[in-house]
Amino acid sequence: MCVCVCVLESRTDLQTGSVMSPLHSFLFLSLFLTPSSQLEFRYHNNREMEQYLTELSAASPDITHLYSIGQSVRGQELWVLALGRSPHRHSVGIPEFKYVANMHGNEVLGRVLMLQLIDDLVRGYRNNEEWSVKLLNSTRIHILPTMNPDGFDESDTDCLFSQGRGNYNGVDLNRNFPDAFAGLRKQPQIDEGKREAEVRAVIGWLRMESFVLSANLHGGALVASYPYDNSNGGSELVGGASISPDDDVFNHLAKVYSHNHASMHRGDQCRDSSPFLEGVTNGYLWYPITGGMQDYNYVWAQCLELTLEISCCKFPPENQLPALWTENRKSLLAFILQVHLGVKGRVFNGSGVPVQNAVVEVRGRSNMCPFRTDKHGEYYRLLLPGNYTFTVTYPSHKVLKETLNVPHGPDQYSAMKHDFMLRQIPATTVSTQANPTNANSTQANLTPGCNYTSVLDAGASRNSWTGLVVGLGLVVVLL
Ligand SMILES: *[C@@H]1O[C@H](CO)[C@@H](O)[C@H](O)[C@H]1NC(C)=O
Ligand SMILES: *[C@@H]1O[C@H](CO)[C@@H](O)[C@H](O)[C@H]1NC(C)=O
Ligand SMILES: *[C@@H]1O[C@H](CO)[C@@H](O)[C@H](O)[C@H]1NC(C)=O
Ligand SMILES: *[C@@H]1O[C@H](CO)[C@@H](O)[C@H](O)[C@H]1NC(C)=O
Ligand SMILES: *[C@@H]1O[C@H](CO)[C@@H](O)[C@H](O)[C@H]1NC(C)=O
Ligand SMILES: [Zn+2]
Repeated sequence: MCVCVCVLESRTDLQTGSVMSPLHSFLFLSLFLTPSSQLEFRYHNNREMEQYLTELSAASPDITHLYSIGQSVRGQELWVLALGRSPHRHSVGIPEFKYVANMHGNEVLGRVLMLQLIDDLVRGYRNNEEWSVKLLNSTRIHILPTMNPDGFDESDTDCLFSQGRGNYNGVDLNRNFPDAFAGLRKQPQIDEGKREAEVRAVIGWLRMESFVLSANLHGGALVASYPYDNSNGGSELVGGASISPDDDVFNHLAKVYSHNHASMHRGDQCRDSSPFLEGVTNGYLWYPITGGMQDYNYVWAQCLELTLEISCCKFPPENQLPALWTENRKSLLAFILQVHLGVKGRVFNGSGVPVQNAVVEVRGRSNMCPFRTDKHGEYYRLLLPGNYTFTVTYPSHKVLKETLNVPHGPDQYSAMKHDFMLRQIPATTVSTQANPTNANSTQANLTPGCNYTSVLDAGASRNSWTGLVVGLGLVVVLL
């Protein structure tokens, strides 16, 4: 009976746009989830999505953790659900993975797929199904089902139109990130005052977690696109493509998605689009953009990100959703597993203390911003199987060089583990300080610089997270 009352009240709420009390929302939640039933295939609005995530995380606190990375321009929370055996915090050796959907407010299939993926993972884990247990045991998965809730509210249901693409200020969020190439080419760099709230939230998020692999879900085409999205017309420009030092890995990652997808790999699925060989493309080769999110992730956050265009229609009719989920499910899971490619480990100093900011380079891969160890002294390098020479540099320590024979990690649900032990240079010979080989003057001109910590003034989004999560937890406990 309570349920019926709640339905009526919430309908009213949805029309008037008034704010529901936490108690009210919690009661409404019970509509979504009964332990055995599957999540409905339809478009949940922002409030329904928030309620779904709140109830789900309250019901599965052992493997899920709901947090907000900040707010949209209109003050809607940007909710992220983290899933894993230690959902609240990073564990050494467990890579951080993320999916971001609905960055363009009118490209909505990703929202639906993300909720289905969450539902599927949690149900699989509860039913002790190996695919889910092994994945959540080895990986921490963060899902941001909507990066642009305000755009979604404005969006129309047309397959092609772009009403609702931008955020509340009408800004395309996938053009609003700092751009490494813009600095080099003297293209105008957006000044920090014009950085949108949603973009600032994502930048802050990247600073808090050391993500290894990511994808950002779009609609309007059927292709897996990979960095770079921009170019300065330098040596990276090869045959119309803007090629990154990790091109082999990116190409592999894109093909994992397209070949596990029901039809993307055929490459000619949407009427008006150009054919994509095997359903993959270099971003710049398709069309150049400045200020995109995937280049930002890769260049500044050492997180390899793809842009996945997962449906020809930006707003598919609801009756097509079950089929679209089936077409994408295997790819979504196979892609997450790729976070276990390559090598991972820690860098220690002579007393066995993990070292932050040690530069870990792989010969032949001159990344614009060198990969560095994080606050746990950890590094992750996604690499295809083969032999690679690693160079580890840290001030006043000897340069370490080691060649590693890297196997295929996804089969084992783990990248190869390898730690590096630094040795200090005796004080008398300290003059030959180690410097990363590719931190040369060209790179120094990059704006705003490789130290992306300085891109944002500290703290803005983070401080509100804990309070929110605690608040929600309290509501749940009280009830
Ligand atoms: C979970 O991971 C640990 C290592 O982190 C491993 O020892 C254990 O066997 C794994 N369990 C399952 C069920 O995969
Ligand atoms: C290792 O780092 C710790 C903490 O910074 C420091 O106290 C210690 O002296 C270092 N050991 C060596 C051998 O550099
Ligand atoms: C890697 O090196 C090992 C020897 O250390 C060699 O046996 C193997 O063939 C090499 N693999 C490749 C792919 O070059
Ligand atoms: C400096 O960076 C540029 C651009 O990436 C590169 O072409 C050049 O080889 C680098 N020079 C050195 C000495 O590393
Ligand atoms: C990056 O910038 C922040 C803030 O300006 C500073 O605290 C930090 O030490 C810098 N890190 C590196 C690696 O230079
Ligand atoms: Zn898009």
